[in-house]
Amino acid sequence: MMLSFRWNILTHGGERTLRLYLLLRGRIERVCKSTIEINGVTIPEGTVTMIPLTPLHRDPEYWPNQKNSPERFTKENKESTDPYVFLPFGAGPRNCIAMRFALLSLKVAVTVLLQRYSFRPCKETQIPLELDPKGFMQPKKPIMLKMVPRAPAEPEE
Ligand code: HEM
Repeated sequence: MMLSFRWNILTHGGERTLRLYLLLRGRIERVCKSTIEINGVTIPEGTVTMIPLTPLHRDPEYWPNQKNSPERFTKENKESTDPYVFLPFGAGPRNCIAMRFALLSLKVAVTVLLQRYSFRPCKETQIPLELDPKGFMQPKKPIMLKMVPRAPAEPEE
């Protein structure tokens, strides 16, 4: 029970991070298969349309709580949220082929690290973190943290 709760927290953490910090692709594209009118705008067949992810992920209409609260990503709240306003892995038949693999790898890596170390800010830690706007999403300077080894957990009775 506790394990599944913590696993869910990790899942929500990964998703909350991807909402605000897309790794590389700030947009996805689709070719319009047939002429269609949406909200008074006619999109002719063959037009390449671009879906900008960052504005969707940060639109206060859909994300009123900009604090990025974990409750946004609970199962119940996810079901009531428009699935097309959170698209870190795209959507439809051509969405990211490795979505589950990527999220699972992230959670396994965080679990292994947190089992062994606590992470603390130190004098080299850049606060607030400055992001490099070019290319891959990454900080301008490397993230420096102090890793404190954790005592092994007592075996459960
Ligand atoms: C957190 C990590 C990742 C993110 C955020 C991500 C995001 C995306 C996005 C947004 C797309 C376009 C989807 C669309 O147009 O609807 C995509 C496509 C794709 N991704 Fe990822 N991806 C990640 C990791 C990976 C990994 C690890 C692999 C391979 C091992 C991978 C393989 C692919 C492939 C092959 C496609 C093209 C799928 C197609 O066109 O049918 N991705 N990804």
